[in-house]
Amino acid sequence: MARKSVDQVRQVTSIGAGPIGGGWAAHFLAQGYDVTAYLHDPAEETGLRRTVETAWQCLSQIGLAPGASPSRLRCTSDLGEAVAEADFVQESVPEILEVKQALYEQLGSLVPADVVISSSTSGLSMSQIQARCATPERTVVGHPFNPPYLLPLVEMIGGEKTDPPALDWAADFYRHVGKAPLVLTKEVPGFVATRLQEAVWREALHMIENGEATPEQIDIAMVTGPGPRWAFAGPCFTYHIGGGEGGMAYCLEQFGPALKFPWTRLEAPELSDDLKTQLIAACDRMAQDRDFAQLSGERDKGLIAVAQAWQKIGKLT
Ligand SMILES: NC(=O)c1ccc[n+]([C@@H]2O[C@H](COP(=O)([O-])OP(=O)(O)OC[C@H]3O[C@@H](n4cnc5c(N)ncnc54)[C@H](O)[C@@H]3O)[C@@H](O)[C@H]2O)c1
Repeated sequence: MARKSVDQVRQVTSIGAGPIGGGWAAHFLAQGYDVTAYLHDPAEETGLRRTVETAWQCLSQIGLAPGASPSRLRCTSDLGEAVAEADFVQESVPEILEVKQALYEQLGSLVPADVVISSSTSGLSMSQIQARCATPERTVVGHPFNPPYLLPLVEMIGGEKTDPPALDWAADFYRHVGKAPLVLTKEVPGFVATRLQEAVWREALHMIENGEATPEQIDIAMVTGPGPRWAFAGPCFTYHIGGGEGGMAYCLEQFGPALKFPWTRLEAPELSDDLKTQLIAACDRMAQDRDFAQLSGERDKGLIAVAQAWQKIGKLT
């Protein structure tokens, strides 16, 4: 299938007006594209434009492409019109298989056949999402990390009916727009990054449930310990450095046997009412009357500082 080269892309369609659809719209606008947002409910336009406006404050600090402007965002609730001129489609509708399948059934005939459609899904498989799509060869997963306009990672995988060149094209395109695509070889539930997060989240809930640590203690431990280290080297290479002169080999020899016990006693915690109440109350305490706009603004400020540190000193892995 002949398709435009990635530097010929001019028009991107973002489907969905939640934090992810809105975040992607902001990212592509900042990269200098014309962006069409498909709104399932026209009443979402104000919220979508607010998401873009908030993101723009960060994006202007990081640097905008020549000609980039939020005024190049067009909204429509006509799906056919939204995708008719698209050179790339990023889908970010709710994480409900039936909703995605029904949408891809429509997109299959509405989106020009050479155009890649990429799903932001956090864990559904593309083989399932594309099941009712008449042109599934160009459908891929492009799973961002929130907020998509600041975090570089995009986890990628095709489904059983995806043409490998479509996946390659999408990875090149994401690279072209400043993302860090991670192309996986297997359709793994939760991909890689979410799966790692889930492991940490499972342990956090476990400790709260057992009265071993409060949510505040868990968050302090992460932010002042593993968190900053992991911003520069992942869990594997971190242990290589932690092993000193002996590196990973010494680390495995020294700590491996001792880890067998914690690994084998871990299990899924029960999400009981009491656990939910404790967590919600703790997060309300930590928020200290700051609303979502303030909190996400402070988060974004921190992420920009991390990105600037990467630019200055690079990453270890
Ligand atoms: N929230 C996150 O942290 C996060 C991170 C990475 C990926 N994702 C994934 O991105 C996707 C969107 O996540 P979100 O948090 O923005 O979701 P959301 O529920 O906040 O927003 C979904 C949007 O899709 C619209 N929509 C609903 N039904 C639709 C339909 N039938 N057709 C078209 N649009 C429809 C909604 O009106 C809304 O604008 C999901 O697949 C999710 O798993 C989420």
